[in-house]
Amino acid sequence: MTASPVVFADRLLSLGLARVSEAAAMASAELVGRGDEKAADQAAVNAMRDQLNLLDIKGTVVIGEGERDEAPMLYIGEEVGTGSGPEVDIALDPLEGTTLTAKDMPNALTVIAMAPRGTLLHAPDVYMEKLAIGPGFPDGVVSLEMSPSERVRALAAAKGCDPDDITVCVLERPRHEEMIADIRSTGAGIRLITDGDVAGVIHCAEAHLTGIDMYMGKGGAPEGVLAASALKCMGGQMWGQLTFRNDDERGRADKAGITDLDKIYARDEMVQADVIFAATGVTDGSIVKGIFREPHHFTTETLLMRSKTGSVRRMIYRNPKEWVGA
Ligand code: FBP
Repeated sequence: MTASPVVFADRLLSLGLARVSEAAAMASAELVGRGDEKAADQAAVNAMRDQLNLLDIKGTVVIGEGERDEAPMLYIGEEVGTGSGPEVDIALDPLEGTTLTAKDMPNALTVIAMAPRGTLLHAPDVYMEKLAIGPGFPDGVVSLEMSPSERVRALAAAKGCDPDDITVCVLERPRHEEMIADIRSTGAGIRLITDGDVAGVIHCAEAHLTGIDMYMGKGGAPEGVLAASALKCMGGQMWGQLTFRNDDERGRADKAGITDLDKIYARDEMVQADVIFAATGVTDGSIVKGIFREPHHFTTETLLMRSKTGSVRRMIYRNPKEWVGA
């Protein structure tokens, strides 16, 4: 008799995933605003890895801290979990917004997504051109092929408003200057962020709360897969196209098994099956609150979601400091 395959029990696993992101956030709590990006990141990495290894999964990190030779922990390809349980792909960013954390600026998160083995895009560590909107619009109402101003006008028409009622979120980088000028030529507003484009994309899914209708621009490709995972749970459309600056970056794509370097990935090509997603606030933000510190306790807020049901939980967790990491 052959053993039946272990199913991806997303409902049960999701609570374990929340613990993983909470642990990473609490570990970096004491480093918020301390000006030390590396220490904050390392604390989050250690805690995330420890908690992940308690989960009953046969996990493989497909989006992680980098290649094995450059990241000793949570590197791409690292096996995590107890080894008994479903085979899963894991995408993670123990501290999304290291500079935001070091400077105590808004929207630093710990982020993790999990899906059945072989269903998350193994995005190499290169840039990705991203475009995202929230739910409720016709398929393909905007596209990466359109110019930034065309996207604004198309979204405004679909929303039944003027372009100057649209707000676009963009990473503030010199590479985006032309794009910013083109968006502004329509009258649309731009929310510039200094870092943290996973949060940038998530904002679109809750436009009624965040005031952001669309995200566009170039950011990390790994962060693109994490953002696509979140949008798959919350609803919304997203596209990403890898961009390469040199042969080393093209080599990274080759290593990840990517042959079509020009491909535009739709959300469900980046995340091909049901996914669970957890993000805990490190610094205060518009998606979740940051860690609240008391002399003997940490309080965290976590966004926990499942694409199968579209459920979105916000979980507040007050934990005595002596139990952090236990
Ligand atoms: P880190 O947390 O690794 O610092 O990444 C922050 C981030 O802003 C991402 O959200 C974004 O995708 C990427 O950096 C943009 O890269 P760059 O700073 O090179 O423009």
